[in-house]
Amino acid sequence: MTGADQQASLEGVLKDEILRMYQEVADNPDAEFHFFHGREAAEMFDYDPEWLERAPAGAVDSFAGVGNPHERSELKPGETVLDLGSGAGLDAIIASWRVGPEGRVIGVDLNPSMCRKAQANLAATGGSMECHEGRMEEIPLPDASADVVISNGVVNLSFQKRRVAEEMYRVLKPGGRISITDIVSGRELSQAIVNDPKLWAA
Ligand SMILES: C[S@@+](CC[C@H](N)C(=O)[O-])C[C@H]1O[C@@H](n2cnc3c(N)ncnc32)[C@H](O)[C@@H]1O
Repeated sequence: MTGADQQASLEGVLKDEILRMYQEVADNPDAEFHFFHGREAAEMFDYDPEWLERAPAGAVDSFAGVGNPHERSELKPGETVLDLGSGAGLDAIIASWRVGPEGRVIGVDLNPSMCRKAQANLAATGGSMECHEGRMEEIPLPDASADVVISNGVVNLSFQKRRVAEEMYRVLKPGGRISITDIVSGRELSQAIVNDPKLWAA
């Protein structure tokens, strides 16, 4: 097997594990996971308690972010926000409150059932979002579509992080902003960790 074949095969396994793991967080949030999630995680990342009371329980319980992209997003009424890897929708819901009825929230998620879940959670708040099934490495949107890109714990899941960054810049309007929270390792990870789809997917 060539290096490229090996990477393609690992990427395929990783994709299956990502689909499985976040589906499980969405369907069964009370199960044991080896990462913080739900209300406990959102409180740890200083999400406004009022947001957590106001949002549908399904979105809060299945929250799987690693930080708080709203602290620096400076969203303004009327803006268009793209949430990359929108999951069960808590970040999209908060973004929709901040951009208001004149604004627009667009989600992109690898998993179509997460898109449906996020849209249902948003509808329960009286708002709406469009959500596209797709990959952050190939964002299914035209150039210059968004004022702001937010993302929470998703870029670390990609094998092609440079490509993801290029895509974010492509879909941003001139003068647009990016506010992402993610995981960065200060030291090189061992091959045992890098080759373990469960650890990479989390
Ligand atoms: C960490 S969660 C996102 C948390 C979310 N912002 C929230 O409010 O709960 C990860 C989500 O990213 C999606 N995802 C993973 N890899 C992706 C990719 N390459 N492109 C688009 N979405 C991806 C997963 O399907 C999952 O729904």
